[in-house]
Amino acid sequence: MTNIPFFPADVAPCLLDWYGQSGRDLPWRKTRDPYRIWLSEIMLQQTTVTAVIDYYHRFLTKIPTVETLAAVPLEDVIDLWAGLGYYSRARNLHAAAKLVVEQFGGCFPEDVETLQQLPGVGRSTAGAISALAFDRRAPILDGNVRRVLCRLFALQEPPRSTAAEKQLWQWSEQITPAENVHDYTQAIMDLGAMVCVPRKPLCDKCPLSELCQAHKFGLEQQLPLKQVAKQIPTRHEVVLLIDHRGRYLARRRLAEGFLGGMWEFPTVSLLEGEDPESKLCLLFSDFGLEGAAKQIGHSQHVYSHFRLKSEIYCKKIADLSHVAEGNNRWLPLAELKNIALHGAHKKVLIELQKSGV
Ligand code: ADE
Repeated sequence: MTNIPFFPADVAPCLLDWYGQSGRDLPWRKTRDPYRIWLSEIMLQQTTVTAVIDYYHRFLTKIPTVETLAAVPLEDVIDLWAGLGYYSRARNLHAAAKLVVEQFGGCFPEDVETLQQLPGVGRSTAGAISALAFDRRAPILDGNVRRVLCRLFALQEPPRSTAAEKQLWQWSEQITPAENVHDYTQAIMDLGAMVCVPRKPLCDKCPLSELCQAHKFGLEQQLPLKQVAKQIPTRHEVVLLIDHRGRYLARRRLAEGFLGGMWEFPTVSLLEGEDPESKLCLLFSDFGLEGAAKQIGHSQHVYSHFRLKSEIYCKKIADLSHVAEGNNRWLPLAELKNIALHGAHKKVLIELQKSGV
């Protein structure tokens, strides 16, 4: 481990003092109920506080306990999540609730190791739940805290490398106090969200500026170092928008598997270089359609492990009886904007609106 240029124990008192005056008043801070804290932590993964607050209240009104969550169908959870993004969180949330009820008798575990057995709960989320709900000494390393530590210790390598990851966890562990862990954890999150922000950090407002090594060397704008983007493959698909008097055919994906429980338009995959129209006829025969469809545009969306390019076609029909409905639903634009359409097809919807057909 590298030498630390200040006493790690000096960090928490500065942060706690600042938090007392400047910390945010957020709904999940008034509770120690692990269900509520867990829910907030999952919602806050890769999502801002502003985006989460209404979802948090609405979710708890409909699903107030872990037992209720374990008992509802996945589709209800997905629908409550619609618009929040990263839907694997909703699927994991549901699976984790079942596990808490079936294996832990409805009581959340308190320690980081057991909490990490819950789907969707990684080391940092487990630390946050353990610290916030049970006031246990548990370090965290979410995106905001990662940035704070990269600057505080002037880490000179990309923060996601294995070596950096190990080092950052060690530093996080060293500065986490034995007492007041709840407030300390909230404080360091707030510092990252409000002061030690990605661009133009507000060092003159920072309670750690005298300790901060990036500030000392004028590196606060350069750190953390940029991560090199990883290479991912491209997949292709044809999407068919079937328009019956302003309502479009949409279907829910099966609960199991990639993007499970989310909504999409009828689609068929395409090999690189393959003619989209040759695949359209498969969709036409699935739905008993005849004639031609009009290409209205294309879109692309990046998922974590592949890029999806969509060729978008629209077919207007006058007669519903030609189209098998099954699990499909006819939805107007206003409703399509509110349901949990997966990311690629949200972009398809934007193209549809742009095309004006
Ligand atoms: N980001 C992750 N967890 C958070 C929390 N408890 N409060 C504010 N922002 C957060």
